[in-house]
Order: sequence, then structure tokens, then C-alpha cells
Amino acid sequence: MTQSIELKVNIPEKKAYSYDILTGQNLLINADEIVKKYTKANKFLIVTNETIAKLYMSEVNIKNSAWLILEDGEEYKNLENYKLILDTAVEHKLERNDCIIAFGGGVIGDLTGFAAASYMRGCDFIQIPTTLLAQVDSSVGGKVAINHEHGKNLIGAFYQPKLVLTDISVLKTLPLRQLKTGLAEVLKYAFIEKSCGCPLNYRLFDFLKQNKQEIFDLNPDIISKLIDICCTLKASVVNQDETEKGLRAILNLGHTFAHSIENLTNYTTYTHGEAVAMGIKMAFKLALNIGLISKDYFESAMELIEDYDIAPAGFNFDKEKFYEEMFLDKKAQNGKIRFVVPNGSSSVVIVSDVTKQQVFDSIESFL
Ligand code: NAD
Ligand code: GLY
Repeated sequence: MTQSIELKVNIPEKKAYSYDILTGQNLLINADEIVKKYTKANKFLIVTNETIAKLYMSEVNIKNSAWLILEDGEEYKNLENYKLILDTAVEHKLERNDCIIAFGGGVIGDLTGFAAASYMRGCDFIQIPTTLLAQVDSSVGGKVAINHEHGKNLIGAFYQPKLVLTDISVLKTLPLRQLKTGLAEVLKYAFIEKSCGCPLNYRLFDFLKQNKQEIFDLNPDIISKLIDICCTLKASVVNQDETEKGLRAILNLGHTFAHSIENLTNYTTYTHGEAVAMGIKMAFKLALNIGLISKDYFESAMELIEDYDIAPAGFNFDKEKFYEEMFLDKKAQNGKIRFVVPNGSSSVVIVSDVTKQQVFDSIESFL
């Protein structure tokens, strides 16, 4: 068993909401004992999906639990399932001090978290993330949401969990494509590290160059380290700006482009991580074109993304439509698109004075 890593998220103005991220191997079988250190709940509602339930339901023996098993897919992160979670909580007479647990990837985490945020104006919430994407990113920081027919994550809240319980053993069943989608968010942290305001210097960019094989082999020490680094960087950002008034926007490197890619393909062609990896490449091209980064840094970043083989090539979008979609991004302000772009090694800045032609030039080479 790898050493468990305990990391604290500590939002200064919300002392009551500080929480631990506990990472290790084979933690699921001890979930009953662990969660009870973090909540006084008498009853639990565990929300998961069919895929995860088949693989891991038998390992999670939290006493006094009801289970809700949903269908698997982004399209189920919707109002109907949000209501179903609330109905199930009411049916099982959960009280405010009781606890709703999200046991799954980012879809289950976001959906369940939003239900927990509103059930009785907020009951206890615990995340047990099962995808790499959820373990390195989405389970931390309190963004919870459901999709609306007019937009992804359109209805949501900031609601922090009491605990993030990360068992890396479950990654062994994660399909390679899903592992890579998580790695896209990991690459993002390598490119934003110095802007996160974290006093530690991990050199994640170099770590990723040096440990690719161990990462794909799911070496437990390396994976735990990776989760620890990403969550520490994310916690550092969230602790400074929980509700995205400023700094937190840097976590969206590549996401403005990804937003267009996902919308134009109805969320069916690419995974979120694939779209983000393509978007990061475009953000780098934009930064190169407007003179924010050197050709050397641009090339070394492209090499790292290519090496991890996450961003598919050979797609075909109408540039005008691509551009229009960007205005619907939640980061757009006063009719201006805001881009997170690199401005130096592992550092980023937000720019909004970018011309349409500059955007076209940055996406063109990838179309
Ligand atoms: P997901 O939750 O759909 O999981 C991907 C697939 O892997 C699913 O089919 C799932 O059933 C399966 N799976 C999960 N764990 C498994 C395991 N251990 N073994 C085998 N299969 C497993 O997708 P995701 O990539 O985890 O999350 C994407 C979602 O996260 C999107 O809705 C996105 O908007 C959201 N997100 C939220 C944040 C945030 O900060 N809240 C950040 C990034 C992304
Ligand atoms: N994943 C972006 C954020 O948490 O802000």
C-alpha cells in the first residue's frame, strides 16, 4: 500500500469548510471507518452509475446507506437526475446532518454535489472520485453543476465537500481513453504551475517528461504523487479565489477553445480531456502569435502534448461558428472573450484584447 497522502483545502473566509483530500490504495474497503471521521451523519445516500456499481459497489460497505444507481453518460448530468437524487434523499428521510456521497467520475461528482448543495439548503457531501480527471481536478474545489439544454454546467453552485476520498486502485479498470482525458487536466497543471501562487516548486512539466511510462503503467507512487501535485496546485488557487472572481479562471487554460469544440460536436465526438488538450494547443499558438512566448517553449509544450498522445488531429470546423461559440463561454465578459494563455514557462495570463483574425490564426493550423 502506498502512503496515504492527506492534503488540506483551506478557504480562509470559510474555515468551517476546510477539508481533507485523502489519497491511497485500497481505501474503498475501509470507507465506512474513514467517512465517519469526517461526518456525523447517521444516514448516507451513495450516488453512482451502472458501470462503477458493477465494478466496485461490493467494496463499499458504508453502514446505513441507500444507493442510487444512474445511467452512465454526460447526458445524464441533467435536471431529471438531480430531481431523482433529491426524491431519493426525501424517500430515505435524510436529514440535514446526513450525507450524500458521489461515487464516480466528474459527471457523478458534479451532479451529486449540486443535489447535496440544495438538499435542505446543503447537507454533508463527500466525494469518492473514480476517474483520473475527478481525482486530479473535478472532485476538489467545490464546483458542482448540471447541464441545461442550452448549455453545459449552466446550473450550479460552489459547494465544498467534507472529504475527498481518493482510492487510486480503481484506476486499473479505467479505459485508456479516460485515463488520457484525466491526463489532459494534468498537463494543464504543468502549464499553469507558477501562476497558482503555491510556494512549492514541483516542476510538474519535467515530472511528466520523466515519468510517462510509470504514469501509463499506473505506478502507485507516481500516480499518488501526480494527484498530490495537481490537488495542491488546485487547492492553492481555490484557497485564494473560491468563486472565480479572478485567479481561478487560470484553471480554464484551453477550455475556451474546448468549449467550442465540445459544443460544435454535441459532446459526442471527443472526451472533455481531448477537447481540452486541443484547446491548450490553440492557446499556445495564440500566445506565440501575439508574442507572449518563445518558439522554444511553444515547441517543448507541443512535444509534451504529442508525447502523451491526447489531442486528436484531423477535425474540421467552420471557423466562424467556432468563433461564435466562444462568446457563449461562461468566461466571456461584456461581449469580450477572455483567453487564458501562456506567457512564460509554466505560467499563464488572461487576455481579452485579441482580434478575430488572431483567433482564426491560432485555430487554423489545427483545423
Ligand atoms: P465521467 O464521469 O463520464 O467518467 C468517464 C467514464 O469512465 C464513464 O463511462 C464512467 O462510468 C467511467 N468510469 C468512471 N470510473 C471508472 C473506473 N474506475 N473504472 C472504469 N470505468 C470508470 O467523466 P469524467 O472525465 O470523470 O468527468 C467529466 C465531467 O467532469 C464533465 O461533466 C465535466 O464538466 C466535469 N468537470 C468538472 C470539473 C469541476 O471542477 N467540477 C472539472 C473538470 C470537469
Ligand atoms: N475545473 C475548473 C475549476 O475548478 O475551476
